[in-house]
Order: sequence, then C-alpha cells, then structure tokens
Amino acid sequence: MQESNVLEIRDLQKTFKSGDSSLTVLKNINFNVEKGISCAIVGPSGSGKTTLLGLCAGLDKPTSGEVVISGSIINDLNEEQLAALRNQRIGFVFQSFQLIPTLTAVENVMVPVELRGMEYKKAYERAKFLLGEVGLSSRINHYPTQLSGGEQQRVAIARAFINDPEILFADEPTGNLDTETGEQIENILFELNKKQGTTLIIVTHDPELAQKCDRIIRLKSGEVESDTYLNKELATAE
Ligand SMILES: Nc1ncnc2c1ncn2[C@@H]1O[C@H](COP(=O)(O)OP(=O)(O)O)[C@@H](O)[C@H]1O
Ligand SMILES: [Mg+2]
Repeated sequence: MQESNVLEIRDLQKTFKSGDSSLTVLKNINFNVEKGISCAIVGPSGSGKTTLLGLCAGLDKPTSGEVVISGSIINDLNEEQLAALRNQRIGFVFQSFQLIPTLTAVENVMVPVELRGMEYKKAYERAKFLLGEVGLSSRINHYPTQLSGGEQQRVAIARAFINDPEILFADEPTGNLDTETGEQIENILFELNKKQGTTLIIVTHDPELAQKCDRIIRLKSGEVESDTYLNKELATAE
C-alpha cells in the first residue's frame, strides 16, 4: 500500500446470487484513491455505484478481490473489527439522510461517538461544534421532522464527520434536494474536505457536482469505463 493512498481496490468482484440465478454487478474493478482528494463516481443507474460504495465502506463483502483502507484489508476483519473501522475511520452520507426520528439533531450527531464510549459532555460539545460548521447552530434541539430536507442532510453530514473520518463516502447526497439546497450541501462537503483533509468519495448523477471534484471515475455495467483527473497536479503526480 502506498502511503499516499487512503483506499485501494484490487480485482474487486461482486455477484449477487438468488436461487439458481446470479448477477455479476461488479467485474474486476481496480483503482487507488489518493489521500485528501475529492473523487466522483458516476455512471448510469444500475451500473454498480451503490454496490461499489457499500463494499468500500465495509457495509457488504465482495465475492472476490480486496478493499484496503489505510493499510487494513477489510476482507480480513471480523464483524467487530469492521464495526470499529466503520465507526472510527469511515463516514457515510446517504441520499435518504437516515436520521433517527426520536433523537434531536445534536443527539443524532452524537450517536457514533457515544457508541465509541466518549464522555457525554465531550461528545455533546463536538456535535454542537459540527452542527455550527454546517450552519445549524440554531437547530440543534430540533427533531428530524422539524427540519427541511437540506437541514436533515446537514445533520447527517455533521454525524458523518463526528469521528474525524479518513474517508467520507456519500451516495447521491444531493439526490433528494432542490438545486440550491444541493449546492449548499456540496459546498459544505468540499469545505470539510479541505479543512479536515477528509478524502471525499461521492456517487452522483449530477455532472456539475462531478466536475467540481479532483477526479471522476465512470462505471459502466460494473466496470471502470474511464478514470479522469480534473486536478492537473494529481494527474502529473500519477
Ligand atoms: N442486494 C442485491 N441483490 C441482488 N441484486 C442487487 C442487489 N443490490 C443491487 N443489485 C443489482 O445490482 C445492480 C447495480 O445496482 P447498484 O449498485 O444499486 O447500481 P447504481 O447505484 O449504479 O444505480 C442492479 O442491477 C441492481 O438491481
Ligand atoms: Mg445507487
């Protein structure tokens, strides 16, 4: 593993089996992602983007091949180790926010650190700070139903950043939002990418969002169709 890579994908394959039929959704995927960059994953619906992100984040296991996150081969980890990796080194933002309805904004953001056993007051202060970073200082005690879609996604982003992850995976993070709100969410993600040095991997349908990233990986029918660096410095470093 090269120091400069935060993620390495080697010969990754995923086949879903049900009864006698099987569907190979990812075929022989290989790429590395440099620490601290923003990388878009694009491609038609059904091309395997969500499946790929799930494998990278350790939410699902590949049929064959390896995912290496900062030197840990995640295939080799047991459930407990995987849960710790997901909790401490990975952030995930979904299209559908996925907040816990019975918890307030600040409580939702605190969930991952509470799972880690951080002291309540410390967790609360960090959650409050991050809600401020995403512009929600005045909404910390609101429940998800009392927040707009854009506000809920901001809470989800604050939650994803609470453990200062090495990588943030976002699956269509602006997919359920109007254009203007979507742009605000994008700006927050890029700001946190720069400020905290978190590597950003974003699945998106939005060509404008993809164009703002350092790199675009395009999938087609479960394979990498193209891999383009928009950031010239990275392109020459390759
Ligand atoms: N758990 C699953 N079982 C069976 N097939 C699945 C499963 N998850 C995804 N698929 C199939 O894998 C293909 C790729 O899906 P997905 O990764 O969600 O694509 P994308 O995010 O690019 O739209 C689709 O044909 C989908 O139906
Ligand atoms: Mg998808």
